Amino acid sequence: SSLDDLYRRVIMDHYQKPRNRGKLEESEGLIVNLNNPTCGDSISLSLKVENGVVTDAKFLGEGCSISMSSASMMTEAVKGKPVEEALKLVQIFSDMMQGKDVDDSVDLGDIEALSGVAKFPARIKCATLAWKALEQGIKQAGQENA
Ligand code: FES
Ligand code: FES
Repeated sequence: SSLDDLYRRVIMDHYQKPRNRGKLEESEGLIVNLNNPTCGDSISLSLKVENGVVTDAKFLGEGCSISMSSASMMTEAVKGKPVEEALKLVQIFSDMMQGKDVDDSVDLGDIEALSGVAKFPARIKCATLAWKALEQGIKQAGQENA
């Protein structure tokens, strides 16, 4: 369908022109390294959390178009957001990957382009990798500030 085509274009655009590709210095933020055990692909997410707000997010990694575009979309979506809102997006993304209806009061922007991945169980881990890293990073930031 034309919606699938649009989604495919959005995914390829993030894959070919990733947003927020890079790494923070260790003094500037925290770094979460995760891999997808099914394929060995990896992501290194740098996260800066200040006063309960995700003030910066960057990623490096090797992976398929789904995993890398998801990381690009995720960093774009959470930068500047309070931690609670970022965690809400983690939940929404997880619902989306289970094919559930998602809370449509939240503007998902480009993230919606990944909704079709729910139909391909083998790819769900690809799409979720960056979001797992985000969740872990936010937890880590909370512990460091506690
Ligand atoms: Fe990503 Fe199979 S693990 S496509
Ligand atoms: Fe490895 Fe997609 S095939 S993350």
